[in-house]
Amino acid sequence: MRIKAAVLYEQGLPRPYTESRPLRLEEVELDPPGPGEVLIEIAAAGLCHSDLSTIENLRPRPLPIIIGHEGAGIVRECGPGVRGLAPGDHVVALFVTSCGECRDCVRGKPNICSSSFAARAKGTLPSGARRLKRLDGAAVNHNSGLSLFAEYAVVTAESVVKIGQDIPLEDAALFGCAVMTGAGAVFNTARLRPGEDVAVVGLGGVGMSALLGAVAGGASRIIAVDRSAEKLALARQWGATDTFLADEGCVEAVREATGGGVDTVIETAGVLPALELSVAITARGGQTITAGLPHVQARFAFSPFALVSEERSIRASYMGSCVPRRDLPMMLDLYRRGKLPVDRLRSGFVSLEEMNLGFERLAEGSVLRQILRPHSG
Ligand SMILES: NC(=O)c1ccc[n+]([C@@H]2O[C@H](COP(=O)([O-])OP(=O)(O)OC[C@H]3O[C@@H](n4cnc5c(N)ncnc54)[C@H](O)[C@@H]3O)[C@@H](O)[C@H]2O)c1
Ligand SMILES: [Zn+2]
Ligand SMILES: [Zn+2]
Repeated sequence: MRIKAAVLYEQGLPRPYTESRPLRLEEVELDPPGPGEVLIEIAAAGLCHSDLSTIENLRPRPLPIIIGHEGAGIVRECGPGVRGLAPGDHVVALFVTSCGECRDCVRGKPNICSSSFAARAKGTLPSGARRLKRLDGAAVNHNSGLSLFAEYAVVTAESVVKIGQDIPLEDAALFGCAVMTGAGAVFNTARLRPGEDVAVVGLGGVGMSALLGAVAGGASRIIAVDRSAEKLALARQWGATDTFLADEGCVEAVREATGGGVDTVIETAGVLPALELSVAITARGGQTITAGLPHVQARFAFSPFALVSEERSIRASYMGSCVPRRDLPMMLDLYRRGKLPVDRLRSGFVSLEEMNLGFERLAEGSVLRQILRPHSG
């Protein structure tokens, strides 16, 4: 079938994106679902900083590619052998597909399934198949097995989780990346216990989800840090007890206000200065959890002596260390009961025509999650 999609042909084009237009709205050909695959009508897809990093060339990808890895939609067709899904089902997309068989999956870490990462580098679905091509027949790459900046996607059935039809799809979409990553970093990676103190550094879609997760998880003191005063004001409304601008005096101010630092610091900014700041405001004996994804070549220096003698740890969190089929229902239930009000993360809607404007706004730092509605004109 012919579908409309936003196709990325070149990484690293200059801003403003409204002029360089890295994403081109085009018609492409989408093959029907093969064995074990499903056709999804995309209802909503979030614009995540990871997509922006792909546009900026912070991480090389096979081109041309249809990006977009956070979204929700409706199953329209099932390929042969698909079980547990039927046309009409509502689903959230997962940007890591678990094969269930590799060492990582067997050890209970489906969020880092190695076969999923191999397919990502090649720009295919996890099976190695491609279902996207240009109208002239040239190949178009898949992104994380999803490619959601389009009207429809063919994905492997393991790339989606069925959800209740009571959840608005534009809210469900947020769970696929921002919420699983941010709230998951708090619940799973940090294993927050009620009454503990948490700091979140970098208050975008992921960081605000971590903040809402810290509120839901019963954190006592919640310290929010960002470069944007507007985001700090929002964080305060949403449950932060202390807010700090990420300026020169920040480390000292946080350490003073907290009597030496915070036990758990979650870094969700994706730049090295934020990671350095996060380590510096972590208390002796505390943990820095990093979820941001800077340039693939970036390197980070720390003092092994301080790490050891102050018994600090730096731990990484990918997709919130989630087991999606376990954690998504739990997080959706918190949302249903008003305890994880992630609908607040939505900063408005964009159409496929407006994607370059959407990424320009994200690069400016003026929005949280904008939601693409690919069928709106
Ligand atoms: N680990 C994962 O699984 C995963 C998943 C999704 C996104 N990410 C990564 O997480 C990061 C955040 O994504 P997002 O979509 O929330 O981005 P975003 O652009 O919405 O938010 C980033 C925030 O960081 C703030 N910031 C920038 N520099 C800072 C500094 N020096 N100190 C403090 N704050 C600073 C910005 O003002 C902004 O509020 C990105 O690097 C993204 O690639 C990781
Ligand atoms: Zn993302
Ligand atoms: Zn696996």
